[in-house]
Amino acid sequence: MEAKEATPVDADNVPNDEPEIQRLNQQHWLLTVLKGGKLHLAPLPPDRPLKILDVGCGSGIWAIQMAEVYPTATIMGMDVAPIQPKK
Ligand SMILES: C[S@@+](CC[C@H](N)C(=O)[O-])C[C@H]1O[C@@H](n2cnc3c(N)ncnc32)[C@H](O)[C@@H]1O
Repeated sequence: MEAKEATPVDADNVPNDEPEIQRLNQQHWLLTVLKGGKLHLAPLPPDRPLKILDVGCGSGIWAIQMAEVYPTATIMGMDVAPIQPKK
């Protein structure tokens, strides 16, 4: 019997493989739809520089989309699992 390769897991023992990345991205899409297409509900000032920190950013999809909406903001995503796109 051949040994099965272990699925990579994050600090919470949750898989951080490709199916999990896809699940997180689908969950992000669903939550955004439920918020009427909004990425956040915070009253962010449109006229001041923004600094945004996404702790436990997962695939990074929210931080990436926030950067598209707020191109002058400084946005940092951090996660123990290095599953974010390089570019
Ligand atoms: C449920 S996922 C949410 C991902 C993302 N925020 C989203 O909404 O799609 C939780 C994330 O937290 C990360 N995480 C868990 N413990 C952490 C820690 N101590 N420091 C940084 N990230 C952590 C995991 O690796 C995982 O990507």
